[in-house]
Amino acid sequence: MTTMSSAKRIQPPQITNKQLFIDGMWVNSVSGKTFPTVNPSTGEVLCQVSEGDKADIEMAVKAARRAFEGGPWPRMSSAERGRLIYKLAGAIEKHAEELAGLESLDNGKPFKDALGDVGLVIKCYRYYAGWADKIHGKTIPIEGPFSCFTRREAIGVVGQIIPWNFPLLMQAWKWGPALACGNTLVLKPAEQTPLSALRVTQLCADVGFPPGVINVVPGYGPTAGAALSEHMDVDKIAFTGETRTGQIVLTAAANSNLKRCSLELGGKSPNVIFADADLDAAVDGAYFALFFNQGQCCCAGSRLFVEEKIHDEFVEKLVAKARKQKVGDPFETDTTQGPQVSEEQMNRILGYVEAGKQGGAKLQVGGGRQGDKGYFVEPTVFSGVHDEMKIAKEEIFGPVMSVLKFKDVDEVIKRGNRTIYGLAAAVWTKDIQKAFALANGLRAGTVWVNCYDVFDAAAPFGGYKMSGLGRELGEYALDLYTEVKTVTIAI
Ligand code: NAI
Ligand code: MG
Repeated sequence: MTTMSSAKRIQPPQITNKQLFIDGMWVNSVSGKTFPTVNPSTGEVLCQVSEGDKADIEMAVKAARRAFEGGPWPRMSSAERGRLIYKLAGAIEKHAEELAGLESLDNGKPFKDALGDVGLVIKCYRYYAGWADKIHGKTIPIEGPFSCFTRREAIGVVGQIIPWNFPLLMQAWKWGPALACGNTLVLKPAEQTPLSALRVTQLCADVGFPPGVINVVPGYGPTAGAALSEHMDVDKIAFTGETRTGQIVLTAAANSNLKRCSLELGGKSPNVIFADADLDAAVDGAYFALFFNQGQCCCAGSRLFVEEKIHDEFVEKLVAKARKQKVGDPFETDTTQGPQVSEEQMNRILGYVEAGKQGGAKLQVGGGRQGDKGYFVEPTVFSGVHDEMKIAKEEIFGPVMSVLKFKDVDEVIKRGNRTIYGLAAAVWTKDIQKAFALANGLRAGTVWVNCYDVFDAAAPFGGYKMSGLGRELGEYALDLYTEVKTVTIAI
């Protein structure tokens, strides 16, 4: 569907790291089992990766515990820990193209988007490197002949479970603050996309993180993931993924040792376009809000509320934009949309398209699989979507847009909030009153005004309601990775 012919193809990198990383060493899993990771552009197996399970988690947690209690890590100054994180950021920068290539191979996202992710990853590590020696308590004037102060201490051994939609970035959001605060960690990457995390792990070893500080156990959720979340010697678990899985992780945390738990879960974020908005900017913004990363974003603007007056014109422009995309090989430089991450996800999305049609929404464009190789889904737009339809309520996690009509501010705030989720929201308007009404009225962890998906390591991110627990990024993430100790001295 494109007219460009000057597109180039980037060469995918070699895959070098496929094992578990425990106590500073690459090892096979105890069982000797492996699992395939698939190239979603072709459906072919990229390579076999060692499959960790309970026994491997056990070893990784032991290594992390030893490193937390006795290794060089706890004796290192916080400035030195910061310096190591800076070095890691530098190594990632040096290997940016290779890492982006691995991400595109394993996840399917267009190479230039993967490079964009790597840019945010580098900034995230640098941001938290800067925090390492600036995490401190307060002195508190209590009553009586006492001196009272607080210390902020590392929690200890941290378990982290991440999804497949932004593998490198989710690793950075988890590792940056955990390491800056002085914890040791065990990461379980998503089974669909283990490769980039393993490459970054080698870079950690290269820059000199002591053995046991960083441990990585690839494997499946109900086995390795569950073993980590129910482990009695893990002090904290951080999870990103589906809301239902988050509930399982939280239950495991509660029923084992009451480990601290932070969750970043699903969303059904309202994106509200008022008639007075800059229409072309809003069309581009609304398109990006939903279709970026093949629609696989927890904060996707998946309920697009368009003011009645401009509805038809707006939908027309969206459809025209959808028709202009180049869906295909992520390594071709003019590709704008790659495949979905897996066959399972593709089928799930196509199921939602069926539900949209059955439910009476109007299919404006797309709706099908593209080709018969790889997991490509056509950019799809539904109009005439109502609040009670399945496609307006559930997280689709694919390139399927639902357009809903609205008339006024109060109505759209009420309807925008009529969801179990509360991760993000956006409003497009030139009217400052409307912008504030929505920014204040929408129950969501992030509200963007005349923009979407603006992320910065310094700005917190997380969900209200069933979208999560706690805030990642910014100074707020330090709360997730520290305990507060009160010290009171008689004087
Ligand atoms: P998932 O929540 O099952 O997987 C995320 C991570 O959790 C993976 O590392 C997985 O191995 C792990 N996991 C799975 N079951 C576990 C368990 N019982 N204990 C511990 N860890 C476990 O998500 P999945 O199945 O890959 O995708 C399903 C849907 O979830 C998607 O269609 C999408 O709607 C949503 N999702 C949301 C994400 C977000 O960023 N909010 C990211 C990925 C998926
Ligand atoms: Mg799952």
